[in-house]
Order: sequence, then C-alpha cells, then structure tokens
Amino acid sequence: MNDLDLERPKILVVDDHPSSRMTAVALLTIEGYDVIEAESGASALAKLHAAAPDLILLDVMMPGMDGYEVCRRLKEDEQTRLTPVVFITALDDRRSRLQGIEAGGDDFLTKPFDQLELSARVKSLVRQKRLNEDLDHAEKVLFSIARTVESRDPNTGDHCERLVLQGRAFAEYLGLTRSQIRDLMWGGYLHDIGKVGIPDAVLLKKGRLTVEEFSIMKQHVLIGEKICQPLRTMRGVLPIIRHHHERWDGSGYPDGLKGDDIPFLAQVFQVLDIYDALTSERPYKRAFSSEEALRKIVEETKRGWRNPELIEAFCGFTQAIEMQATNEPIWFEKYIKLENHS
Ligand code: SIN
Ligand code: FE
Repeated sequence: MNDLDLERPKILVVDDHPSSRMTAVALLTIEGYDVIEAESGASALAKLHAAAPDLILLDVMMPGMDGYEVCRRLKEDEQTRLTPVVFITALDDRRSRLQGIEAGGDDFLTKPFDQLELSARVKSLVRQKRLNEDLDHAEKVLFSIARTVESRDPNTGDHCERLVLQGRAFAEYLGLTRSQIRDLMWGGYLHDIGKVGIPDAVLLKKGRLTVEEFSIMKQHVLIGEKICQPLRTMRGVLPIIRHHHERWDGSGYPDGLKGDDIPFLAQVFQVLDIYDALTSERPYKRAFSSEEALRKIVEETKRGWRNPELIEAFCGFTQAIEMQATNEPIWFEKYIKLENHS
C-alpha cells in the first residue's frame, strides 16, 4: 500500500444549520473520514484550496451564496474541478436536482440522512475522484514526454513555452471560449509529441531531408494523435496535433484538407507555430523580425497556404502587441490587407 492509500479521505461539510452539520460530521467520522466544516458558501470557497477535500457535502439553500453558485465556481477552478460535490436536498425535489446537475453537481443526498446511503455514495465518489486524479497524472506523463521530445530536437528551445503564452493571448484576442483556449495552450505543449517516434537520423539531421526522410517526419502528427487518443481530456487537442501541418489550399499533410475543413483550432495554432519558428533563431537561420515574419506569412497566404481572414486577424493581433510595446503606429498596415489578392 502506498502513502496515498493510507491517507484518510477528507470531506468538507457545508451547511448553514449547525445541527445538520453535526449529524453529517458524526456519521462521516464514524465511517473513518477526516471532516472539516464551513457554515456558508463563501467560507467553503475560502477553505477549499488549503483544505483540498476529497469530496464536498453541500447544502443547497444557504443565505448569501447558495450551493449551486459554490458548485459552479469550484467546477470552474482548475485546482478544484475534480472534487466531487454531493448536494443535500429536500426529499423528492426534482427541480433542485435539475439545477444541481446544471451546476455540475455529482450526486444528491436527501435529508434526513440515511447512514448506509451516505456511506455508500461518499465511498464510491471518493474512489472515483482518486481515479480521476490518476488520469490527471497520465496527462502529466504526456506533458513530460513532450518536454523530453523538445529537448531532443535542436530546433526548438523554448518554442513550446512561447506557443502556450502566445496561444492564450491570441485566443483571447479572437474571443475564443475557455475550453478552446485550454486546448490551444495544451496544443502548444503537445503538438509535436509524436516526434518521440521519429528516429534521430531524421529528427536531428542537419540540412534538407530527402523525400523519404520527409515522409518519415510527416508521421509525427499521426504518432502524436495515437499517443494522446486514449485520454478523454485530450479530445479537443487531437485535431491540433493531427492537422497542424495542413494548408488552406489542400497541399498540406496528413489529410490534404482544404479551407474550413481544417479544424479551426489547428488553423489558429499553425499561425502561431510558424510565426514563432520564423521569429526564433534556428541552426539553419537567424531570427527574423516580426515585420519580416509577417511579410513571409502574408506571402504564403497569397500563395494559398493560409486562411486570409485569420492571417489578417493575426496581423491585427501582432500590431496590437507591438503598439503596446512601442506606443507607435505600425508599418505593416500597408500590406496586411489581403482582399485584393485573395
Ligand atoms: C515540425 O513539425 O516542426 C517539422 C515537420 C515539418 O516541417 O513538416
Ligand atoms: Fe509539427
């Protein structure tokens, strides 16, 4: 048995009525749990990070912040979203159950508590949570494989780290959703994870790849997709991994997708990937200025390789960032307009 198994699960009981709280605390203590208490939604949220409970028993009707709101907030928080929430509701109240499900609740218990029911629910949810934590560990393993791949590839340096930061900034500029932003950031770390399966002779080769070597290199998008496929939480990242080398006119790989058949996040990611490669130093090239890089991307867009609308947005984004940095209006207005060419 490892240390984790020996740790007693910790339950946070949130209820504004001291008497209900006491009943729950007594029952759970008998079952061998560590129990902490909060008398309001606000105090529960305040305690959450430090206490890191394995499960929360949450009263619905409380003055101030109600249980639904507490649940919504903790499910939005990266650190606490895996913590199961059991709502305490009145018997047979269908409406509040529906609201509880909408708020992200995991289960329900009715007052007065039935000891057997309480014990069974809590036990199974705590077990499920620990399983989910292992899944998160599996994610961590993937991220560390990706880091290892990056350190093996002499071309990249801090490429991934920069992609993640730029990815968030550009995604916010485009007004993408929270989950799209997360997928894009994860894509920053994971897009080239498949290079783990590319032999050194190809990955580390200085100078141009032969046609045959390039066809091996291309495999990295398929290998990467295969590595990440088993994890449900990777679903939104898979299109980025598979399709980050497609081109707008269908001349890319692996599927030769055209135009908006290319998943949007893969299009967005690709612009960031290319811009960062252009503006960084590589063994075979110096770092281009952002003006030179954009000029090249615009050229490639005119050649048909990129989505003109997206590239225009990217130019606007880069301009906004440069203006923040220099406080000066910018040079590239003169050529970012693509309408005449596309
Ligand atoms: C890469 O994924 O950065 C290299 C493969 C390619 O240039 O297509
Ligand atoms: Fe790649």
